Amino acid sequence: MTARVTLIPGDGIGPEISDAVLRVLDAAGARIEWDRQLAGAAAIERGLEPLPAETLESIRRTRVALKGPLSTPVGTGFRSITVALRQELDLYANVRPARTLLDGGRYEDIDIVVIRENTEGLYVGVEHYIGMEGDRKAAAESVMIVTKFGAERIVRFAFEYALARARRKVTLVHKANILKYTQGLFLEVGREVARAYEGRVEFEDRIVDAAAMQLVLDPWCFDVVVTENMFGDILSDEVSGLVGGLGLVPGANIGEGAAIFEAVHGTAPDIAGKGIANPTALLLAACMMLDHVGDRATAGRIRKAAEQVLRARESLTPDLGGRARTAEFADAVMRRLA
Ligand code: NAI
Repeated sequence: MTARVTLIPGDGIGPEISDAVLRVLDAAGARIEWDRQLAGAAAIERGLEPLPAETLESIRRTRVALKGPLSTPVGTGFRSITVALRQELDLYANVRPARTLLDGGRYEDIDIVVIRENTEGLYVGVEHYIGMEGDRKAAAESVMIVTKFGAERIVRFAFEYALARARRKVTLVHKANILKYTQGLFLEVGREVARAYEGRVEFEDRIVDAAAMQLVLDPWCFDVVVTENMFGDILSDEVSGLVGGLGLVPGANIGEGAAIFEAVHGTAPDIAGKGIANPTALLLAACMMLDHVGDRATAGRIRKAAEQVLRARESLTPDLGGRARTAEFADAVMRRLA
């Protein structure tokens, strides 16, 4: 079956890496009908809003999008297009799998998935200044929101994710020892959800500071990590660092009605247009997208080919110490497709 997928090539290096990824998907025989849409600077250049209604409509229709990085324009009222997309489509689960693909880094054999709650916590943006004695900004206050509904659906998502991929353990990360109400509720609901999976997926909880340290000391004790919004933001970058940085890590934002797959890195303005960007992160995001639309076989073949190219240190782009161009890396992956 052919899947319809919205494609937002993105800004900066976005179009270059998108081209490379589309060529690999095509060569692998992925059956996708792309609906190309604009967002970010590319949309503004054509006189459109940073997040045009048509783009949003397309994702609502196809329910799946592959998105390149977007530069967030300053002074348009948009905090960030990525954040706007998450809110508009209620993409509550942010999923970042980090796996060692390149030997010789600080850590070998890392395989951790961070699942972050994407809609609540401190990032709801309920904050204000408090004026005192003529100083308008004498203090500032920010509200952390945790709901039973939000906590339950993200922890359940993590367990279902673990079950579907035969993963052994879910670690819930929190700060319930200090934030007894908000974090306490997150932990309480998490424990309740975990009971339903007893005997099928192991469960443990860890306090965020200890978890951050343990990730550096003994990252192999983690498997699937589930946590609230801000802790997830920080820990998922830490985990990316364990496998060589943001350039190799894909991410997904998933909701009931739609899912958006993207590279974790930004538009890399310093190398945009030079044809030397590394397309790996977006390629792995495209593999997550193929899994999501049910084409696990093609996703598996592409992952294997990309991994072989990386492990053989063949046609690496400059960010990984090589001299290859974006298109040459893609060619090398295509040659290894079985
Ligand atoms: P960045 O990730 O674009 O770049 C950081 C460094 O990593 C740069 O030196 C860049 O050359 C390098 N890099 C990133 N991706 C690479 C790749 N695929 N291959 C080779 N090198 C790569 O982060 P920065 O500079 O903070 O952000 C630039 C712009 O990207 C900003 O406008 C920001 O808002 C946007 N951004 C968008 C994101 C998204 O749409 N999901 C995520 C992060 C940033």
